Amino acid sequence: MRRILIIGIGAGNPDYLTVQAVKALNQVDVFFVPDKGAEKAALQRYRIEICERFIEHPNYRIVTFNTPRRAEAGGSYTARVDVWHAELAAEVRRLVFGELSEDQCGAFLVWGDPSLYDSTLRLIERLLDEGARVEFDVIPGISAIQALAARHRISLNRIGLPVLITTGRRLTEGMASQPDDVVVMLDGEQAFSRVDSHDHDIYWGAYLGTEDEILIAGKLSDVAGKIVAERAKAREKHGWIMDT
Ligand SMILES: C[S@@+](CC[C@H](N)C(=O)[O-])C[C@H]1O[C@@H](n2cnc3c(N)ncnc32)[C@H](O)[C@@H]1O
Repeated sequence: MRRILIIGIGAGNPDYLTVQAVKALNQVDVFFVPDKGAEKAALQRYRIEICERFIEHPNYRIVTFNTPRRAEAGGSYTARVDVWHAELAAEVRRLVFGELSEDQCGAFLVWGDPSLYDSTLRLIERLLDEGARVEFDVIPGISAIQALAARHRISLNRIGLPVLITTGRRLTEGMASQPDDVVVMLDGEQAFSRVDSHDHDIYWGAYLGTEDEILIAGKLSDVAGKIVAERAKAREKHGWIMDT
């Protein structure tokens, strides 16, 4: 049966790859690498470099594929994501059944960890729901969250207390429940600027694990403006940004 490995590759530093991930890379016949255009070419190159650095044989192929874009307007957010996932799943089906023979192993190299704000697992589930005969396994990776906490040398939770993980889009409603600690990902609009800054500490990181890494920490009221300015400058320079 065709086998798919969903391998977490860490969020930005090849040294984040686990020994388990390296062993998994060496079992793969075909890597499916998304091509997200010139702006994100660095992310595609990063995946290819990981293969070149960690795979100890020449018997693998890399197949790049175009990812459809999610519609920005029309219908609810969930409905738009559903349509987009259906298109992505069709592409995954084409890759798995068009590029792998019956006994081969394919892999998706997922940024950070596959369990967090990533749709690869849902796409594979869709294939299985549609009756596709494939086996799959997941190899965990170092998420941007662990990278951020490590670089700032902090614990995420206070003793015995929970941590809310959310997106910039949902931050305002998340804050309404007065969480003790919050991790915010996918924040294209610097939602922290809209938080009542009284007494909050912020630990911010961009391009974590890479040579372009930026770290800023302090009282939200003191550093929010600096983060907004540094973020805009870095985004302009690199053409893309990932920050948490
Ligand atoms: C689509 S999610 C993927 C998360 C990923 N699966 C993980 O485990 O880190 C992308 C978001 O992760 C965060 N992120 C990923 N890599 C990052 C990095 N190197 N530095 C800062 N934030 C990062 C950002 O919040 C970004 O918007």
